[in-house]
Amino acid sequence: MARDPGRVLIFDTTLRDGEQSPGASLNLEEKLAIAQQLARLGVDIIEAGFPFASPGDFNAVQRIAETVGTADGPVICGLARAAAGDIKACADAVAPAANRRIHTFIATSDIHLEHKLRKSRAEVLAITAEMVAYARSLVDDVEFSCEDAGRSDPAFMYQVIEAAIKAGATTVNIPDTVGYATPAEFGELIAGINAHVPNIDQAVISVHGHNDLGLAVANFLEAVKNGARQLECTINGIGERAGNASLEELVMALHVRRSYYNPFLGRPVDSSEPLTGVRTEEITKTSRLVSNLTGMAVQPNKAIVGANAFAHESGIHQDGVLKNRLTYEIIDARTVGLADNRISLGKLSGRSAFRARLEELGYQLEREDLDDAFARFKELADRKREISDRDLEAIVSEQVQQADEARFSLKSVQVSCGTGLQPTATITLTTADGAELTEAAIGTGPVDAVCQALNRLAQVPNELVEFSVKSVTEGIDAMGEVTIRLRADGVLYSGHAADTDIVVAAAQAFVNALNRLIAGGRSQPLHPQKGPLPVVGDLPLAGRPRV
Ligand code: KIV
Ligand code: ZN
Repeated sequence: MARDPGRVLIFDTTLRDGEQSPGASLNLEEKLAIAQQLARLGVDIIEAGFPFASPGDFNAVQRIAETVGTADGPVICGLARAAAGDIKACADAVAPAANRRIHTFIATSDIHLEHKLRKSRAEVLAITAEMVAYARSLVDDVEFSCEDAGRSDPAFMYQVIEAAIKAGATTVNIPDTVGYATPAEFGELIAGINAHVPNIDQAVISVHGHNDLGLAVANFLEAVKNGARQLECTINGIGERAGNASLEELVMALHVRRSYYNPFLGRPVDSSEPLTGVRTEEITKTSRLVSNLTGMAVQPNKAIVGANAFAHESGIHQDGVLKNRLTYEIIDARTVGLADNRISLGKLSGRSAFRARLEELGYQLEREDLDDAFARFKELADRKREISDRDLEAIVSEQVQQADEARFSLKSVQVSCGTGLQPTATITLTTADGAELTEAAIGTGPVDAVCQALNRLAQVPNELVEFSVKSVTEGIDAMGEVTIRLRADGVLYSGHAADTDIVVAAAQAFVNALNRLIAGGRSQPLHPQKGPLPVVGDLPLAGRPRV
């Protein structure tokens, strides 16, 4: 392939497809923190969002393009349906990035053509050529996706891909949108494209896939063997329904099994050159950040980033690992940055040491947020002797979560509970205009009482669908992290908080979720993949190219 980049490009879509996970919506500060960490992780391309969805989404993509899209940084990409308004908004949003990309897509399966787009194959072919050419008139780097490629007629798809490349697409993406393919089939699909699309040597082949059958990573690895050189994936595998192919699993499979994959990239078996540009030591930190900010917990047995992925419970395994870790371990925990949980600060540490360590961990807080986070750190240091990086991350991710959307802030929470007592909570909230509101409620337990009191104060109907607590670090003085998910009008909203007192953490997490619900209820962004395309002819510019 003339456009073979010589290694596998990692295209991260945590901020676009990942954010489409129910309840995972992120505010601007959170998106910026994740984008900055993705740049440190070394991904090649960040899909920062769907700019046409709402002014907030546009602004987030633009800010990421400004701050993370430096000349030596990743390509900043935005998603656009194959419609002129989407493409123009996308071009404007990614414009500040030194390296920018428009990713436009249209479905190619008959089932989508008939029931979603209500368009003929000829119409889809014409729209593809026209919209890719339009995108290419705005940026040099254009990616085109055949949505639902996994269920499309290959012969028709070859024609669409050929037209997209002819119109200027530099990457062609093959999504298994519904997670239906098996590895052998997906590999054949990529081989077929390589064999039957005459101009395929002018574009990078990319893959995108959902995990409905748990096969996304396996499908991608088969695609690499057949010529795919860009993998679209998310941190912790989050995304629509069962999620996307997980970045950490793909990167570590290509790292650990390098000698198996080397020949498929034309390298000697024993070449030690990395197959991706990812800095694997940043994986654990990135996983924790995404989990904290999206409120999507990582299952303990999840490969690479699950709490048990490097834990050796059974005596036989522990004994073997102590004698020689190769007996039961294929990855050294340090390779993914797991052992790197420094005891960094203590009671006497000052503000500048605190800020410096946060910066090393990848958090850059504005002055006011830094003051609040430092106050929380001091409070914690009074209760906990040693403050580790994990504790700092818990404090700061909460700070980032509260930024710019706090309608209510938690002023105080008091509970009384125990044997023979009716659990009672008294809560005081401060509103955005400074008023203080207090309510008390009884519940089946202290957390239930807290939630009841908060609901009386906020007066926004919701249903609590998830409440989970886990400890940030080991030890009796560890902080507890609480994640709460609320449902309102069928939409999920999550809240996350950490404190050494789990009732306080629960109250704060509930307030964070309520604030998101109130902000989200005001405007639901447009979903890129649901519904027909906007009417053709919506292009706001005169003189658009016709092909
Ligand atoms: O799953 C999918 O098909 C997508 C496309 C928009 C690439 O997310
Ligand atoms: Zn997708």
